[in-house]
Amino acid sequence: MVSLVMGTSKEVTGMTTTPAEHRPVSVEAALDTPQSRRPWPVKWWLPAIPHYIVTAFFLNGYRDDWWAGGLICVLVLIAAVVPALTGKYPQDLFDLIIGLDRWVLRVVAYATLMADAYPPFRLDMGGTERVARTWPRRPCGEGPGPFGDPTGTLGPSCPGCRAVTLEPWPRGRPAPGGRPPVPTRPLDSTSVTHLVEDATAAPSMHNAQPWKFRFLRDTASLEMRADPERTMPKADPTTRALHIGCGAALFNLRVAAAHAGREADVRLLPDPADPLLLAEVGLAGPVGPDDDLAVLHPAISRRRTSRFPFTDEEIPSDIVDGLCGAALLEGARLFFPDTWHVQSVLDLVHDAEGREALAPEIQQEIAHWTRTGTEEGPSRPEGIPAHALGPRQHDVTAPVRDFAGRRAVPGRGSATFEKTPRLALLGTTEDRPEDWLRAGQAMERVLLQATSDGLATSLTSHALEWPELRWAVRDPASSMGHVQMVIRLGYGPAGPATPRRPVPEVLDIA
Ligand SMILES: Cc1cc2nc3c(=O)[nH]c(=O)nc-3n(C[C@H](O)[C@H](O)[C@H](O)COP(=O)(O)O)c2cc1C
Repeated sequence: MVSLVMGTSKEVTGMTTTPAEHRPVSVEAALDTPQSRRPWPVKWWLPAIPHYIVTAFFLNGYRDDWWAGGLICVLVLIAAVVPALTGKYPQDLFDLIIGLDRWVLRVVAYATLMADAYPPFRLDMGGTERVARTWPRRPCGEGPGPFGDPTGTLGPSCPGCRAVTLEPWPRGRPAPGGRPPVPTRPLDSTSVTHLVEDATAAPSMHNAQPWKFRFLRDTASLEMRADPERTMPKADPTTRALHIGCGAALFNLRVAAAHAGREADVRLLPDPADPLLLAEVGLAGPVGPDDDLAVLHPAISRRRTSRFPFTDEEIPSDIVDGLCGAALLEGARLFFPDTWHVQSVLDLVHDAEGREALAPEIQQEIAHWTRTGTEEGPSRPEGIPAHALGPRQHDVTAPVRDFAGRRAVPGRGSATFEKTPRLALLGTTEDRPEDWLRAGQAMERVLLQATSDGLATSLTSHALEWPELRWAVRDPASSMGHVQMVIRLGYGPAGPATPRRPVPEVLDIA
């Protein structure tokens, strides 16, 4: 195994000890055993002669003035005539022709590369293509729909959307092309620790990480609780933002469970008498064949809030559609506002900034959770560190919160941000704690999907923290419901990693 590591100028240590954030590119490759050094005429011709005879028969079997076709040409001719006579395309013949073609190409490739071995004669059709999912074409802000459906069963969404039925595949039934469920081993504490580590990589307001987990061995389930010590009484008096962060952690937990081959059986707010118990997650069963969350797992550690400038490059419409679909799958809606609406959201964010500047209690909360790099004492595994604040904006064109405010941050530069920020509003029909948890899961699904699609993201809850501004953020012409988050998306730097509390601090194993 060979590892190639490309580091930044910050890299001063040896390759193996370079921290991940200083390794923008890391390539690992297994090398084959060395090839023999036989002369090229031998390699090109002698061992390949039987293969050349067969390929010649496939390609040039019979020669005439006008016809130089071998078996493949004959079969193609038959394949062209059969549908005219029978009205059906001969699938088996198609497979045979493609198999022959593939083998010919393989022989050419092996011979050109002067390989020591030649390909075995196989007529396989290669792997199965992944069937693309159909998503709604247009942002799903219009029309009534069952979004926010507490059963999680989403039917066709809105009249403005081009056909999609986002019904979950029935449990226990193999999805088309899906894997059968695999039995899983009992959960040990190491596996639970890994699951919780992935859960806690989620975003949370001011990186307060307002969650606690408890693993119950006898039922193989995890409880997720809100941590009342980590609330923001001034900026988030209703704990809506706290629920959104915990919802995001819950989604990461579901992805991590699927990655580990387990089905996460989630019950939101299972005990009305205990509102701090946000979710109970059964982990006893094997992951269902329809569960495709595991593909998002690599994005958990790559997702970051980027308070850096993005380019003005458009996001392709199929990626936008995929993000809308991701939100719908979690019972929320993602809406990409028009230019006038983006401008009005920016105005509302500026309004919120002005109000915040005049609210010393909110300033105190922010100062408590953010660092400027001038603090003394050991660094804390929570809050927003100075290196994650991003540069100051020259002209404020993007809704990126300046957490430093008037505080000086040593070494902090300034930059021009994108002129036309690409914003998405995430909303739910209702505005109860269970909707906030659902919105958090939808937000994280959108963020992980965006990360997988190569996008950088940041969040803006600024204007949503003021009830009189929050209602104005939504598009009055759509059935957006209640806006839960403003997401900024684009092409740009991913943003640096922020600290997390060690798992033993947030996980209790009973
Ligand atoms: C409910 C909520 C509100 C947030 N609001 C903002 C915001 O207004 N501005 C901002 O820059 N980041 C915001 N964030 C992002 C957090 O600051 C960020 O997730 C946290 O610092 C951890 O960093 P990471 O996302 O890079 O892991 C918010 C996150 C959540 C979950």
